[in-house]
Amino acid sequence: MVRFPFGTITITQQAKDLIAEALATERVSSGKLVRRLEKRFAELTGTKEAVALSSGTDADALALAVLYDFGAKRGDEVIVPSLSFVATGNAVLQAGFTPVFVDVKRQTLNIDPTKIESAVTDRTVAIMPVHLMGKPADMDAINAIAKKHNLFVIEDAAEAHGATYKGRNIGTLGDMAAYSLYVAHIITSIEGGIVTTDREDFAEVLRSLRSHGRACKCEQCVINSSDSGCTRRFQYGSDVRFIFERVGFSCKMNELEAAIGIGSMAVYEEILQKRYNNLMAMMDGLRQFEPYLNTFRQEPHERIGPHALPVLVAEDAPFTRDELAHHLEQSGVDTRSLFLSMPTQCAGFEHLGYQLGQFPEAEYVGTHGLHVGIHQGISAEQIGYFLKTVDQFISQYAAV
Ligand SMILES: Cc1ncc(COP(=O)(O)O)c(C=O)c1O
Repeated sequence: MVRFPFGTITITQQAKDLIAEALATERVSSGKLVRRLEKRFAELTGTKEAVALSSGTDADALALAVLYDFGAKRGDEVIVPSLSFVATGNAVLQAGFTPVFVDVKRQTLNIDPTKIESAVTDRTVAIMPVHLMGKPADMDAINAIAKKHNLFVIEDAAEAHGATYKGRNIGTLGDMAAYSLYVAHIITSIEGGIVTTDREDFAEVLRSLRSHGRACKCEQCVINSSDSGCTRRFQYGSDVRFIFERVGFSCKMNELEAAIGIGSMAVYEEILQKRYNNLMAMMDGLRQFEPYLNTFRQEPHERIGPHALPVLVAEDAPFTRDELAHHLEQSGVDTRSLFLSMPTQCAGFEHLGYQLGQFPEAEYVGTHGLHVGIHQGISAEQIGYFLKTVDQFISQYAAV
């Protein structure tokens, strides 16, 4: 039986060498390698600043927590799509804001821009669109609403490495963008996250937030990159490393993770292209199973960031999502359910008082969606095997 694994990781020789060097010098907490990773990531996305963190969830939460320095109040509202990986909703709550959920469009898996404006109140501070499965959200519409109501826009670009929208990189279309560098993503540090922005003042607050809300945020202090220590440390009346200016988090990236990430960025273009080709081949192949099975489409104005292949089982299909998943798993193809409606299908959000039925599109995806890998370890033969396996499954029903 052919195996079709959900994920893989490419750990380059460069990463191994950098890890060995870091271990030899015993400088392993956040330092020079983290700064190097940040500079390279900012170059790749085309932003001025990038601040590395321990996870994509922290990236979402810290990007939001920055807003307290810019007029937001605890408990203010952040508009998010009802459908996302649960981390998006968790992060809004972790940052001390109230998530206000807006349903998605089934065809795009992304927030429905026509439903955003009615969710805006006088406590709304930001919209956080998610580019789910690497498909860009409708940023023109979202930015227009944000401009009209004076809201910040923070892109959850966790799954959208390499995606573009109208010729611009995802991650450069709002005030800040939050990425995950978890092992399933194109650029990975195994566990990790990163926030990009063009605003130096935002980046400064992010560096403080990741280190307990510390006042010291010059490069030397925040990344511990000098052997001699920071010359400004005692120039503030007391030790600046023990002045805390805001409610902080503890989510720095370490040097070993940064080494993996630097190695991963060196093969980024290659991996991106391979994953993109795999995604396009699998999307094309899946079209033969319409109307039973559907996936999203790539529009001319965009390039999808190849994260995974989403599959939606049609409402009137003669089989369920779980039956399809079971068949694929039995045949060696790893599957994952697609995400859930956070407010109505994830128990952690019950206290917010939403009722099942309020987000029909997201809930549909929650019960009818799955996704499979398209990663750099997948070959053309494996794609052929995947399509053949789906075909066998569907044929059983066609024959009945
Ligand atoms: C849309 C989205 N947001 C946030 C996250 C959180 O990232 P992490 O798992 O690195 O915390 C993920 C995870 O992959 C995600 O898919």
